[in-house]
Amino acid sequence: MAKGFYISKSLGLLGLLLGVAALCTIVALSVVYAQEKNKNNAQGAPGPTAPPTEPGATTPDLSKPWNRYRLPASLVPDSYRVTLRPYLTPNNQGLYVFVGSSTVRFTCLEATDLILIHSKKLNYTLQQGHRVLVRAVDGSPNPAIERTELVERTEYLVVHLREPLRAGRQYEMDSVFQGELADDLAGFYRSEYMEGDVKKVVATTQMQAADARKSFPCFDEPAMKATFNITLIHPKDYVALSNMLPRIPSYSYPDDAAWSVTEFNTTPKMSTYLLAYIVSEFHHIQALSPNNVLIRIWARPSAMAKGHGDYALNVTGPILNFFANHYNTSYPLEKSDQIGLPDFNAGAMENWGLVTYRENALLFDPQSSSIGNKEPDPGGGRGHLQKDLIVLNDVYRVMAVDALASSHPLSSPADEVNTPAQISELFDSITYSKGASVLRMLSSFLTENLFKQGLASYLQAFKYNSTDYLHLWEHLQKAVDSQQEIQLPDSVGTIMDRWILQMGFPVITVNTETGNISQQHFLLDPESNVTRPSDFNYLWIVPITSLRNGAQQDSYWLLEEKAQNQLFKTSAANEWVLLNLNVTGYYQVNYDEGNWKKIQTQLQTDLSAIPVINRAQIINDAFNLASARRVPVTLALDNTLFLYQEREYMPWEAALSSLNYFKLMFDRSEVYGPMKNYLRKQVTPLYHYFKDLTGNWTQRPATLMEQYNEVNAISTACSNGLPECKDLVSSLFKQWMDNPSQNPIHPNLRSTVYCNAIAQGGEVEWNFAWEQFRNATLVNEADKLRAALACSNQVWILNRYLSYTLNPDYIRKQDATSTINSIASNVVGQTLVWDFVQSNWKKLFEDYGGGSFSFANLIQAVTRRFSTEYELQQLEKFKMDNMDTGFGSGTRALEQALEKTKANIKWVKENKDPVLSWFMANSQ
Ligand SMILES: *[C@@H]1O[C@H](CO)[C@@H](O)[C@H](O)[C@H]1NC(C)=O
Ligand SMILES: *[C@@H]1O[C@H](CO)[C@@H](O)[C@H](O)[C@H]1NC(C)=O
Ligand SMILES: *[C@@H]1O[C@H](CO)[C@@H](O)[C@H](O)[C@H]1NC(C)=O
Ligand SMILES: *[C@@H]1O[C@H](CO)[C@@H](O)[C@H](O)[C@H]1NC(C)=O
Ligand SMILES: *[C@@H]1O[C@H](CO)[C@@H](O)[C@H](O)[C@H]1NC(C)=O
Ligand SMILES: *[C@@H]1O[C@H](CO)[C@@H](O)[C@H](O)[C@H]1NC(C)=O
Ligand SMILES: *[C@@H]1O[C@H](CO)[C@@H](O)[C@H](O)[C@H]1NC(C)=O
Repeated sequence: MAKGFYISKSLGLLGLLLGVAALCTIVALSVVYAQEKNKNNAQGAPGPTAPPTEPGATTPDLSKPWNRYRLPASLVPDSYRVTLRPYLTPNNQGLYVFVGSSTVRFTCLEATDLILIHSKKLNYTLQQGHRVLVRAVDGSPNPAIERTELVERTEYLVVHLREPLRAGRQYEMDSVFQGELADDLAGFYRSEYMEGDVKKVVATTQMQAADARKSFPCFDEPAMKATFNITLIHPKDYVALSNMLPRIPSYSYPDDAAWSVTEFNTTPKMSTYLLAYIVSEFHHIQALSPNNVLIRIWARPSAMAKGHGDYALNVTGPILNFFANHYNTSYPLEKSDQIGLPDFNAGAMENWGLVTYRENALLFDPQSSSIGNKEPDPGGGRGHLQKDLIVLNDVYRVMAVDALASSHPLSSPADEVNTPAQISELFDSITYSKGASVLRMLSSFLTENLFKQGLASYLQAFKYNSTDYLHLWEHLQKAVDSQQEIQLPDSVGTIMDRWILQMGFPVITVNTETGNISQQHFLLDPESNVTRPSDFNYLWIVPITSLRNGAQQDSYWLLEEKAQNQLFKTSAANEWVLLNLNVTGYYQVNYDEGNWKKIQTQLQTDLSAIPVINRAQIINDAFNLASARRVPVTLALDNTLFLYQEREYMPWEAALSSLNYFKLMFDRSEVYGPMKNYLRKQVTPLYHYFKDLTGNWTQRPATLMEQYNEVNAISTACSNGLPECKDLVSSLFKQWMDNPSQNPIHPNLRSTVYCNAIAQGGEVEWNFAWEQFRNATLVNEADKLRAALACSNQVWILNRYLSYTLNPDYIRKQDATSTINSIASNVVGQTLVWDFVQSNWKKLFEDYGGGSFSFANLIQAVTRRFSTEYELQQLEKFKMDNMDTGFGSGTRALEQALEKTKANIKWVKENKDPVLSWFMANSQ
């Protein structure tokens, strides 16, 4: 689960299908994070609306088009012809490079004497004294070039012409260039891996968000769609892949027989950020999908030889088919390649026809991968259960961010998003998870059938085109208008604008004595000041479903701030209501104290009257309400009393993640002892339940949810000191140490067993795990060990590990942040990491600012426990001290951390005493 807000495998495949329609601006559906480094912007740390400025530099003259980040509308591309030759060994200056040539054909829409095209870190070969050649396609005289220049800040190649290009005419521009095939995970880059003792090099791409321009000069905005003819020149025993299949068989390169040329078919009209090309020695397996799409899985030869691509091959065809049917849109390409790369920044990237993955997101080894590694099961028998996980993994996770005054709306006005860094910042949890959450709500109140109908017609209308969310509302509205059954209180657009154009979400408050219902913008810190205005005054049009004593009630729309309805009024002493069935609504719910008590009684007498997802909701909402000081913290804790009878995953997971906040706030204080006693008491029956179910841990439970909860049972029991659990993990780990070639620990349990065994153990256990990590051939296994190594309780071991983390020979650059984050999440390691970050920010920024490092995640991880005035001062000082260096993609995270720390300080002050008493009273 250490994917941060990277895309999951199933999302990658969703994105792959959406590529079909080449959607560009429906942010809710846009996929994948591509880290952007932009040295210029790293310095200015611009806010979301401020134009970027560099300290000490004069403000650029914005009347000059090349000083503006967005392309002018005067020229639009039609087609590109690009030939690239990556050198997979360093040149005599020790540099890995690629050389290329490109021709772009474009149409002039408005007369202009400027050609502005994106170009980043490319060195051009002069032709006739200039960086480019320009000619008119219709044979009229070629436009004369006055001069060309490269503008580094806005990443343009600017061609100044002596006379204007004419509207309505087509032109072509040629260039020859050289770029670095760097290991920066951006644009055309190189990835390395070992095959035996031999270092192997792969040339591969990650264009999103704005790095196609680092590979060849292009109009690098998603709406600037064109067709592409890609040709790769590559060492002859390497294989070349791109979005399309080769046009003709590869042939020998005339200038050098050691090289081959592979020419690919012309792509459909598409955006630059979805391009991909790869030169490697990878092997593949292949199959035809039910619709005759060629599916190939590519990876390192040794991984393929062990069959690690088989599972992906088995499921890709069915997944493609599922989406094609679901959206009533066929897959338009002749093939779909899936490739697992040793170095990859995001989880996966939905390049059209050539989807790139981190190895661990594509490859699956039944011998050593856990159930979590396999989760994108294509909606087989248990599909609906996996679908429920969105409530925990997206809805509640993003609500925690969206409930801050510093949040931002899902949809940003185009003029607030200019620089690559600003684009990069948009690939956050609001975009991914709130986008998914509000679409799920929409699909629920429309019904899934109407939603699919509208979406299919939208995809059809805008394929190969650009669009925005208004068009989606239009097509969904058409679906609504085509029938009578579903009636909405207003248009789809009017309802949805409130959810996507204003940040945050409401808390719905019900008083069951009066039947009053009301809404209010939910803020985790009620005293924080919302400075961002909203056209809708932070009011929403809220779809409300409810249960009364277990029976589903009519649905209801809350259109105003306050209303009253019999639906929400109870009379009998044991009658309760519960809102937001299955948490399909993107909001939280609060009740009068009497109703809360009745819900608690129901849960402790017969929890089956309340659906599983809502048992998780009751816990989650109550803890959030307590954080916001809308209910006493003891009420939220009372809502966990039923857990000793709970066997289901979602309620347990909700409780554990809510209580994780208590752990962070209190694991350095006297509250922690009684808290551990309480959790141990509550989890013991669950531990025994799984022990029985699995024949003393010798088998695995049948369902995915049970397997997840088995892990929760062991990790909670062990970390809260259940002696038999501690014995179990040490004995399993010892068996492994005694016979390293025979790991007796089931893959599902490895993360938690490794972590607890290393925490209980010392140097010997740590060194053993480190050695296993160094030798691990499977990324999944290496990832588990890498995280578990951060569980040690010994300061010196953790300090040594921290130093290893910044040595790329030990820990891959792509894994540096997540490893540091693991260390910081350990109470012993957090101080070490914070000291380290404070004293080395500038160096970190310089060494790791190049794309592979998530500063946002790092800041979040290291400040998570901050809850004292002293820590707040340190954080403020850190911000002041490093203003000049800047925080890059971590800018917003730093502001959020400051706000969060202030909220924590207040929370601890108010809650420590009641929480301590509550745990003492309930831990017997
Ligand atoms: C790309 O190839 C197609 C098909 O041969 C051709 O029509 C198009 O002109 C080519 N584009 C360029 C820029 O050469
Ligand atoms: C591009 O030119 C600059 C300046 O001469 C040089 O430092 C750099 O190494 C060149 N890059 C490549 C890939 O050749
Ligand atoms: C892939 O499918 C084949 C045929 O159904 C099956 O035998 C094999 O076990 C599957 N492999 C994996 C790894 O799921
Ligand atoms: C693309 O969409 C716009 C509406 O945004 C429409 O006016 C235009 O005709 C569409 N173009 C194509 C080629 O479908
Ligand atoms: C909100 O504004 C009030 C009044 O200006 C101020 O006293 C308070 O400190 C602010 N709260 C936060 C969290 O900034
Ligand atoms: C709630 O979710 C469960 C589990 O996915 C499902 O079986 C049930 O039908 C859902 N209830 C409603 C009202 O959608
Ligand atoms: C589990 O172990 C206990 C003793 O520790 C034993 O009595 C019981 O039979 C075992 N159960 C299974 C299924 O092996």
